[in-house]
This record gives sequence, C-alpha cells and structure tokens, in this order.
Amino acid sequence: MRGIAMAIKDRTFDWDRDFELVRQFLIETHKIQPLLNWIPTRFENRKFGPCGPVYEDDENRFVRIWEDTRKSKSALTPIVGVGIFSPPSEGYVNIHPQYRNIERDIISWLEAQAIQSGNGTSNAGELGFFVREDNGHLITLLEGLGYQNKGLYSHDRVRPLDYPIPEFEVPDGMEIRSVDIVDELDKYRAAQGSVFKHCLSMTIDNARIFKSASFYNPNLDIAVVTEDGDFAAFCTIRVDPVSGITEFEPVGTHPDYRKRGLAKILIADGLRRAEDQDISFMCVPGANPTEAASRLYGTMGFELTAREYHWSKTLA
Ligand SMILES: CC(C)(COP(=O)(O)OP(=O)(O)OC[C@H]1O[C@@H](n2cnc3c(N)ncnc32)[C@H](O)[C@@H]1OP(=O)(O)O)[C@@H](O)C(=O)NCCC(=O)NCCS
Repeated sequence: MRGIAMAIKDRTFDWDRDFELVRQFLIETHKIQPLLNWIPTRFENRKFGPCGPVYEDDENRFVRIWEDTRKSKSALTPIVGVGIFSPPSEGYVNIHPQYRNIERDIISWLEAQAIQSGNGTSNAGELGFFVREDNGHLITLLEGLGYQNKGLYSHDRVRPLDYPIPEFEVPDGMEIRSVDIVDELDKYRAAQGSVFKHCLSMTIDNARIFKSASFYNPNLDIAVVTEDGDFAAFCTIRVDPVSGITEFEPVGTHPDYRKRGLAKILIADGLRRAEDQDISFMCVPGANPTEAASRLYGTMGFELTAREYHWSKTLA
C-alpha cells in the first residue's frame, strides 16, 4: 500500500492542458460505476455553461488533480481523483473506485478551499457535499469527520436506451423547434430566467461560449414556442462527443405554462431528435426531487437510480 500511496501525486489544474485528461478520467470511472462522479458534460459546463459569469483562468485553482504515475499503461489518463470546489461552500470528490484511499486527501484540500473562500464572509468555513446514498465509503468518511446529513438534495435518473418514446401531439397554436441562443437571446434568457433565476444574467458572451461547447448540438437545443413567439418550455440535450454520455440539462417550463403537458412533449421530441446521435447512456443526474420533476421524468422513462443527500459541516 505504501508503494501505491507514494506513486500518487496531486497537482494544479489548467483547463487547456488538462480538460481532455479529466474528461477521460470521468468516462473511465463512469464505465466502472455510472454516475459515481460527475459526467463529462457537467465538467465542461463549468466553462461553457450559459448562466453565470464567464469562466476566468483564475478559476482553474478550484480544481485539483490526483495522478498515479504507475497507473496501467492502457489507461488514457493517469488521473485517479479530481477535487472540485464551487465557492463559497460546495465540494465534489471525483474518485477512481480503486483509489478510495486518497478520498481523505481530496476532502482535506476542499476544506482548505472552503476556509480560504469563507474568510471574512458569512459562509466562513462552511463546506457541503452532495453524496449518493450508495456511496458508502464517502458517507463513512464524512460521518467520521463530523459532517451531518442535512437531507435530500436530488435524484439521479437514468433512461434505458431501449425504452420506447411516447407518441405526442403539439397543442394548437404552438410548435416545437430548435432555438438559437445567440440570435434569440432575449427570449431564451426570459424563459430560462423565469425558472432558474441565475440565468437572468445570461449575456451574449455566455451564449456564444455555450454554442461552442463540444457537447452542444443546435438541433438539440429546443423549445415549445407559443403563437406570440415566446418560449413556454425549453430543454437542451447535451451529448458528450467522446463517450456518448448524454444528459437533459436544463429542462424547464415557464410558470405561466405549467401542467399542460409541455415538458412531456418537449422531452419526447428531444428523444426523437437524439435518435441519430451516438448515445451510450442517457440521464438526468442531480434532478430536482420535487413532485413535478419526479412525475415528469418518471413518466418519460427516466428511472430513479439513487438519491443524493447534502452533507455539511462548519469547519472553523
Ligand atoms: C418540472 C417541470 C419542467 C414540469 O413542467 P410541466 O410542463 O408543468 O410538466 P408537464 O405538464 O409536461 O407534466 C409532466 C408530468 O408531471 C406532472 N406534474 C407537473 N407539475 C406537477 C406538479 N406541480 N405536481 C405534481 N405533478 C405535476 C403532470 O401531471 C405530468 O404527469 P403525468 O403525465 O403522470 O400526468 C416544471 O415544473 C418546472 O419547470 N419546474 C422547475 C424546474 C425543474 O424542476 N426542472 C427539472 C429540473 S431537473
């Protein structure tokens, strides 16, 4: 064991140098244990997501890499662990299942980030993790360190690839079509902002960056559009081009148009559109655990595979 520990080194992350290596690590570990870690599109979203400030190089410091210099030569990446800190107080442990022994080191690094980030703010020293109920090793570790389970946070949902796509009809006066986040920014932002408040700050720069993501396919960014041209419901299907791991993110219906079946027909249309893609796995990780989202995804064949709980602790 001592020999293995000594072969593992941690180092800084640089997007340009390391993104593809991290992507390979997430794909490799997903094959061993689906959804144990982030999926590649979620990691890419850190830089290419449409909502929130444009990514700065300085944010590279919130990711740290652990590598095994002696990892099998057939592996496409030496990475065995990735810590991700989301200021001010969220930590994520991405781990290769054979290297659980370094989880404690990743947590220590995340705790240091939280303390540093919390200095002088009301969040001083708070750190939280969102942990799947089947991630026993991490749960035991967090419990031992004094973290507490603060309750249900989200649902991981997976849609079997052979699950049939339901028939659907678009209501009179409405259409489902692909939308252009750059040319139609105002409507896009209004719809997403009505559901996810932080998207109200979406800029044209965000829009251009989003369109340039490797997971982005213009045909799979769709909306239910009303007679007036407003976007009543929206959804984006993100396909990781290297692995085919695919997520529906985001999905939402404007509050004025809910409970009319629009999200259902939009997802059904999205599934049809995605049929010509090379999809290996279809999911909604971290789905909203509300009754509305649960009914929607359940009806559309996205099975609940695990719940995620929020574990947190005040550090200092
Ligand atoms: C979840 C959401 C997208 C549903 O949109 P919608 O257009 O109202 O959904 P639909 O009308 O297509 O309904 C889908 C199913 O959910 C049910 N449903 C919708 N809203 C519901 C509610 N508030 N309570 C209970 N069931 C509800 C419908 O009855 C239908 O179920 P059924 O086919 O078994 O009868 C919408 O509520 C929303 O935007 N929520 C906030 C964002 C969110 O949670 N997005 C998902 C993120 S992971």
